[in-house]
Parts: sequence; structure tokens; C-alpha cells
Amino acid sequence: MNEYVIELSDVRRYFTMGDFIVKALDGVTLNIERGSFTAITGPSGSGKSTLMNLIGCLDTPSDGYIHIDGELTMGMNEKELAYVRNEKVGFVFQQFNLLGKVNALDNVMTPLLYSGIGARERKELAKIALERVGLADRMKHRPNELSGGQKQRVAIARALVNNPSILLADEPTGALDSQTGRQILELFEELHSEGRTVILVTHDAEIASHAKRQIRVRDGKVGE
Ligand SMILES: Nc1ncnc2c1ncn2[C@@H]1O[C@H](COP(=O)(O)OP(=O)(O)OP(=O)(O)O)[C@@H](O)[C@H]1O
Ligand SMILES: [Mg+2]
Repeated sequence: MNEYVIELSDVRRYFTMGDFIVKALDGVTLNIERGSFTAITGPSGSGKSTLMNLIGCLDTPSDGYIHIDGELTMGMNEKELAYVRNEKVGFVFQQFNLLGKVNALDNVMTPLLYSGIGARERKELAKIALERVGLADRMKHRPNELSGGQKQRVAIARALVNNPSILLADEPTGALDSQTGRQILELFEELHSEGRTVILVTHDAEIASHAKRQIRVRDGKVGE
């Protein structure tokens, strides 16, 4: 098996804005080892989220090659990309991105809706994921009935429900107080120690220092 679970080769992401071109990523070559824990830091607007969205196949590059688990994403059709997004990668966002009108259990079940898994098993898998993040007693709560840290745990359970080998988190502690943020960091550390590859974007140097590797993004380029 390839030792790198993510490989980027001279990746660019340009946005055309009228007469201007925004070079959000401008030639990024980067390999991420299987089972590693990486923190991505860098100033606002440097390209961190753009990079994460490309790795998570939420977006496609303007140029360059991305391999996820040894497979080139370029040329994949929508169905193949959806498979990578759903099965290989779990994504966690700063603002949780939960569905406001349904409870924690239903939120966690959503990635399984198109998996062909039956309703009873979907529920069972969602329960296991919520138990995993310490929310067994909050399954019936809607997002507005949960604290910030609990909301982020629901979002992490949703990212875990398909048992992906890669976890991507874009400022997962950015909307939380520092103590709650540390608890969320500990959860990511546990999920890493279970063998997952974790990549976490953060502005917080203390949080970044917990990662085995730190990557700095600046003006659309990466450095260590
Ligand atoms: N959809 C888009 N259309 C046009 N420009 C974009 C788009 N998305 C991002 N950009 C631009 O690309 C650059 C990188 O944005 P990105 O969101 O990746 O930064 P970031 O490092 O995540 O910043 P922050 O720390 O504030 O979240 C910025 O200059 C931004 O304005
Ligand atoms: Mg960002």
C-alpha cells in the first residue's frame, strides 16, 4: 500500500473575478503520510480552506494532480467523486454545518442516506458514532438544544459515520472557547491514535503544536 494517503502535485486553484484572477492556491506539491496528524496554519486568505476543499473533493483544481488513496481524482465522474467524499473522507467545519431542524441522530445519519444501507442499520451506525464522541445522552437534541462543543461533536460523529480513513477539519475549534476547543482537539487526537489520517486547520499555535507535522500556507503556497 502507498505510504501517502494524499498526494498533491503542482496544484493550482484560480478564481476568475471579473478582470482579476485570484490565485487561491498557486502550485502546491504536498504528500500526507497515511495515519499522520498534520496541522495547517497560515494567515487569513492564504488558501487553507481552498486546500482542504480540494483534498476533500468538495472542489476541483484548476491545474495539477491530486491522488487520494492512490487514485487520481482528475477525470473522476460525479459518482466516483461522491464515493471519495463519502467513504474515504470525513469533513468537519468551523460552523458545524448541521441541519437545524432535525435532531443529532438524524444529522449523523444524513451521510448514509444514499449508501443503500437500510433504515435500521443507518440508525445503529449513527448511534455508535454519537456514542463514540460522548453524546449517547443527546441523540434527540436539535442543534439549538446543544452547546457549541456538543454541536461540534455531532458534526464529528457525522464525519465518522462512514468510518473514513481521512478526517479533515477546517478550524474545528474556531467557534469554541479555549477549554471546549481543547476537548475537541483531544477527540481528534484519539481518532488519530485509532489509525486515521487527520488534517486540521487552525489559527491557534497551541493546538497546532499537538500535531506531528505543521504545514504553513502563505499566498497560496505551502512550506513546513
Ligand atoms: N469561491 C471563491 N471565489 C473567489 N475567490 C475565492 C473563493 N474562495 C476563496 N477565494 C479567495 O481565495 C483566497 C484563499 O481563500 P481561503 O478561503 O482558502 O483562505 P483561508 O486561508 O481559509 O482564510 P481564513 O483563515 O480566513 O479562513 C482568498 O483570497 C479568497 O478571497
Ligand atoms: Mg478558511
